[in-house]
Amino acid sequence: MSGRFITFEGIDGAGKSSHIEPLAEWLRASGHEVVVTREPGGTPLAESLRELLLHQPMDALTESLLVFAARRDHLQRCIEPALARGATVLCDRYTDATFAYQGGGRGFDLQVLAQLETWVQQGRQPDLTLWFDLPAEIAAARRGAARAPDRFEQQDGHFFERVRAGYAERAAQCPARFARLDAALPREQVSVQLQRALAERFGW
Ligand code: TYD
Repeated sequence: MSGRFITFEGIDGAGKSSHIEPLAEWLRASGHEVVVTREPGGTPLAESLRELLLHQPMDALTESLLVFAARRDHLQRCIEPALARGATVLCDRYTDATFAYQGGGRGFDLQVLAQLETWVQQGRQPDLTLWFDLPAEIAAARRGAARAPDRFEQQDGHFFERVRAGYAERAAQCPARFARLDAALPREQVSVQLQRALAERFGW
């Protein structure tokens, strides 16, 4: 028995995080064991690496190595054991974020990322990726000035349009895995699209 692995992706300000807990509650109410986690993060080591990634200056290769190191630990200690016991894993970002942010946003070598992906994941891909897609301008307005921005949130609109294009490229490569949600719509309508994607993919 292997559980479902569902990832949430999109540029900063897309609103993905606000859909994770309600989905987890809904699944728990219908009898699923649910693990909610995030990347980088999800284990003590990976959370420490997240702090470094978000706040220390570094180049794109170092960013990539850190996110994959965090991912390795997260997979071994959290994601794989949860899937093995049949839990549904809801993960806020995964490797598509690396292709989008380090590849698209930073312009880092996609072939190197693909190699790291192979080494680190040993074939583990999400069963479904919910991609919250919207223009960078709308996302920036939503992010507002609520808190001190991290190294990524400080980037300009051009950076986030490149990240968005990076997601679009990944989605085009794996159309069966990706469900694109129009995240520019009001929250309830995004939620309807999300439920439809789960129904189509898993019959939930
Ligand atoms: P995010 O998931 O948006 O969390 P919060 O809602 O707390 O801001 O922040 C994580 C940041 O890390 C985000 O800006 C994207 C970046 N990131 C990468 O650059 N590469 C990666 O592989 C991952 C997983 C995240």
